[in-house]
Amino acid sequence: MFQNTVHGECIYGNLLNGEWVESESGKQLEIRSPVDGSLIGKIQAMTKKEVDEAIQDTKMHARAWAETPIYERAEVFYRAADLLEERAQEIAEILTMEVAKEKKSALSEVTRSADLLRYTADMGKSMEGQAISGENFPGGSRRKLSFVRRAPLGTVLAVSPFNYPVNLSVSKIAPALIGGNTVVLKPPTQGSISALHLADVLQSAGLPGGVLNTVTGRGSEIGDYIVTHEGIDFINFTGSTEIGRHISSLARMTPLLLELGGKDAAIVLEDADLDFAADAIADGAYAYSGQRCTAVKRVFATDSVADQLVEKLKARVEKMQVGDPRDGAMITPLIDEKAAESAMELIAEALEKGAALVTGNRREKNLVYPTLLDRVTEEMEVAWKEPFAPILPVIRVKDIDQAVELANRSEYGLQSSVFTNDINRAFSIAERLEVGTVQINNKTERGPDHFPFLGVKASGMGTQGVRYSIEAMTRPKAITVNLREDF
Ligand code: NAP
Ligand code: G3H
Repeated sequence: MFQNTVHGECIYGNLLNGEWVESESGKQLEIRSPVDGSLIGKIQAMTKKEVDEAIQDTKMHARAWAETPIYERAEVFYRAADLLEERAQEIAEILTMEVAKEKKSALSEVTRSADLLRYTADMGKSMEGQAISGENFPGGSRRKLSFVRRAPLGTVLAVSPFNYPVNLSVSKIAPALIGGNTVVLKPPTQGSISALHLADVLQSAGLPGGVLNTVTGRGSEIGDYIVTHEGIDFINFTGSTEIGRHISSLARMTPLLLELGGKDAAIVLEDADLDFAADAIADGAYAYSGQRCTAVKRVFATDSVADQLVEKLKARVEKMQVGDPRDGAMITPLIDEKAAESAMELIAEALEKGAALVTGNRREKNLVYPTLLDRVTEEMEVAWKEPFAPILPVIRVKDIDQAVELANRSEYGLQSSVFTNDINRAFSIAERLEVGTVQINNKTERGPDHFPFLGVKASGMGTQGVRYSIEAMTRPKAITVNLREDF
């Protein structure tokens, strides 16, 4: 049973070989809402022995799944996409309570995931192999032909973060499965219930037992054991740079794809449309209380536009709805009190060192009000640290060269935005920014989900995006035919 209700409490099992099972340890974790502290449900704290079973079980089903024709794998995805849309409202309501995501954004996370499933199915069906003739290389011959197609890697470990537990689970699971791999999903503890609903949808759509198993429990307790498990053939991780680095140090020869933290900069040039830029920056910085890897996390403005830009940002921030995600508030409680505490410490340190508070600097438990800081300097931590909270520092620069230099001095390199009406300058600045993607005249953002998505430096390793993810989680398999001389 997917969820068991005991004395009015929802107890979630783990998917193992097509069955929902509870841990033999009897140890369960309470998942409470960051919105109001209410109990959403309980999940299993799995033991190492159960982790072994979950991984072992995917091995037993690997061959059959790898041999299932791609069009049949794709059929499961189309059915899952339809089911996900049918259940979108229900899952969005759980997401809203579990990770305090505003209700429209929660719904859009679910429907976006249905789109991703369909697109992945289409992409999987359209990916073809190659036949390479030996004659193209000096000394080669037409009698030698290499047939190259993509083969699965084996069992993929998918580890997703709390801020997109559905979308950042499906963006790993779907490309891995269409490529013929089996998957073990380790969802974020806070976000597990939403992710388990996704697993239930895939199973209900006809995914064979043992092709996707789930493993819940605290990363701090079972994480190291899972990532170093010899049954794992690929690790696809999204989360903080700190945990990403830790996993990378443990992984030894297991290949990895890492999507990590960011400190995305918005650079505003003198000729930019400032109203347009302020709209995009305000949305990019504060949506979901800044808990997006791609949130705008610092603004560089030259003195000639800074006063006006700050005024425009202030007007937008002061209008933002703060409060309950069920009421459609843009600024909602942070995932926990610790996140709120670190956010307030960053603000306090900046103010102590002379930053100007434009608006905000207020907290009620884990709800942090949107905060805009002006005249932030490179001596302040908020200029460099990823807050994962609704805080936006404005750093005034003398010219664009200084903006690019400071942008690149960050340890992170996820995305950057450039706002200008001069496309030539935009391109020239984009070329100089050391990030995975530069957005010209837009906030920083991941989608659409078939675009390449990657971070450089401490922001990650490897590339996601439907086609890129399938390629990352498969390898070329070459079979060379050597025809006889009389051919
Ligand atoms: P996190 O604390 O690093 O956790 C991410 C995931 O790793 C969770 O499922 C967590 O499980 C698990 N985990 C923890 N320790 C582990 C270990 N030793 N081995 C294996 N797994 C382990 O990150 P978060 O707070 O959920 O997410 C916020 C961070 O993710 C931010 O830094 C954000 O920038 C980044 N992020 C990046 C991207 C991107 O695409 N670049 C996208 C989204 C988020 P538990 O929940 O059980 O601890
Ligand atoms: O938090 C990281 C997500 O991948 C960001 O996605 O830019 O669509 O909000 P988004």
